[in-house]
Amino acid sequence: RFVSLGLELNVDYVSAVVLDLAGGVVSSTSRSGGTSDDLRDLARSALDEHVGPDCTLVGTTLAVPGLVRGDNRTVAWAPNLRVEWGELADALGSLVPDQQVEVSNDANCAAYAESHHGAARGTSHALYVTGTVGIGAGIVQDGELVRGGAGFAGEVGHMTVGDSSALCGCGRRGCWEAAIGLHAMLAAVGMPELDTPLLTAESVAERARTDADVRAGLERVGRDVGLGIAVLSTVLDPQVVVMGGYFAPLGDLVLDPARRTLDERLVSTAQVRPELRTSTLGIEAAALGAAEQSFGPVLAGEIDL
Ligand code: BGC
Ligand code: NA
Ligand code: ZN
Repeated sequence: RFVSLGLELNVDYVSAVVLDLAGGVVSSTSRSGGTSDDLRDLARSALDEHVGPDCTLVGTTLAVPGLVRGDNRTVAWAPNLRVEWGELADALGSLVPDQQVEVSNDANCAAYAESHHGAARGTSHALYVTGTVGIGAGIVQDGELVRGGAGFAGEVGHMTVGDSSALCGCGRRGCWEAAIGLHAMLAAVGMPELDTPLLTAESVAERARTDADVRAGLERVGRDVGLGIAVLSTVLDPQVVVMGGYFAPLGDLVLDPARRTLDERLVSTAQVRPELRTSTLGIEAAALGAAEQSFGPVLAGEIDL
């Protein structure tokens, strides 16, 4: 049996997905944590438990919250990550000996998975927006991921949106992620981070049922979500925008105010409002997309098994 391993190291969680060549998910796990040890431990147990002697590991891809060079080997910059690239490279080297681990941007990986069999399936022009500590995007145009000149397309978390003076993890003020990233959302509702972004957001959604201040905080975040999507829609004209990570459990609590803002900001009545949907693949979307990308060269016939 041929399998691939998709990993994600984010600021505050790690995920691992083992996929078989037929596209079946063998295992899919996430935990809170953000060190290279957390990543190595999770990857080790995924390999030990699900990649037995009857399996051939075809490839491993790691999704990271940062700018990955076009060689798919090195991270140029990851503003919020707690691990240095050098340390991460060492951890990766010891993980799967004799194999080169590929690196890929988290949002691009998640967009890849969501557009193949998630919330953007069947759409050729989609935008995926992460809902994690950082905000990033995967842009799908004509069914293909847009990579940009250096491989850095989709750094939407650092576009200046609105007049927010909040400080971003990148050191600048007024970035979109400083207004709608996980920490900004939690500050807006006055709640702490509890576990992975998804579990944390589930408790925020629960609280919103009975707490009007929490709903008001989410409304504010939702308006800033809408502002950014209006800018992106004006440039990209997506048919569908998929909101991942913490946005999924909050759903319309954030998306309804975003839709209203979007209606106000679109440039003409002729401009079509993209459909705002929540992710269906959950917090493991990036690790799943990473595992799928590991099969890319095999499926393209570039590698014979
Ligand atoms: C990074 C992006 C990343 C996003 C989501 C941003 O801070 O610059 O590369 O995709 O966070 O993790
Ligand atoms: Na991206
Ligand atoms: Zn920034």
